[in-house]
Amino acid sequence: MDFKEYITIVPDYPKEGIRFKDITTLMENGAAYKKAIDEMANFAKDKQIDVVVGPEARGFVVGCPISYALEIGFVPVRKAGKLPREVLKVEYGLEYGKDVLTIHKDAIKPGQRVLIADDLLATGGTIEATVKMVEELGGIVAGIVFMIELDYLDGRQKLSKYEIFSLTQYS
Ligand code: PRP
Repeated sequence: MDFKEYITIVPDYPKEGIRFKDITTLMENGAAYKKAIDEMANFAKDKQIDVVVGPEARGFVVGCPISYALEIGFVPVRKAGKLPREVLKVEYGLEYGKDVLTIHKDAIKPGQRVLIADDLLATGGTIEATVKMVEELGGIVAGIVFMIELDYLDGRQKLSKYEIFSLTQYS
């Protein structure tokens, strides 16, 4: 399946010069959404994954159905102030901006094998921060999956130690 047929490119959003990749049109199509999730779950299925971790909000759209397919749990990474219990915090740089990500301190057990999932790899800042938190809690990052990879931003370089799978790439 050519997933690009279902992703909509929105010029100049959220600001001039950015060609935003809108996955909502892929999600609206049941067959395309299912195929996307199946392919990502398939990448992970032989990696003895214990838990899926995904950053809000679009990482939930990708990570939760993968965890359901793999019949394992899902751990949310959220922006500051959203998780109710004790958190680990890390600051990160975005493609356009800066922010703080958090994870519950007890969400990952030392030695657990983790699959990180998100919709898009741009600069890699979000996932670099997510990896940092998972590892600080003693987790092992056994794979990282994306729906979309923006080749020209070189996010993959930041994550070169890890096995990465992306469904579709833009250059
Ligand atoms: C977007 C996207 C990725 C991240 C990619 O999320 O969903 O998580 O940016 O950029 P990076 O590789 O440069 O870090 P955003 O923070 O906009 O949050 P959202 O999913 O809540 O819209």
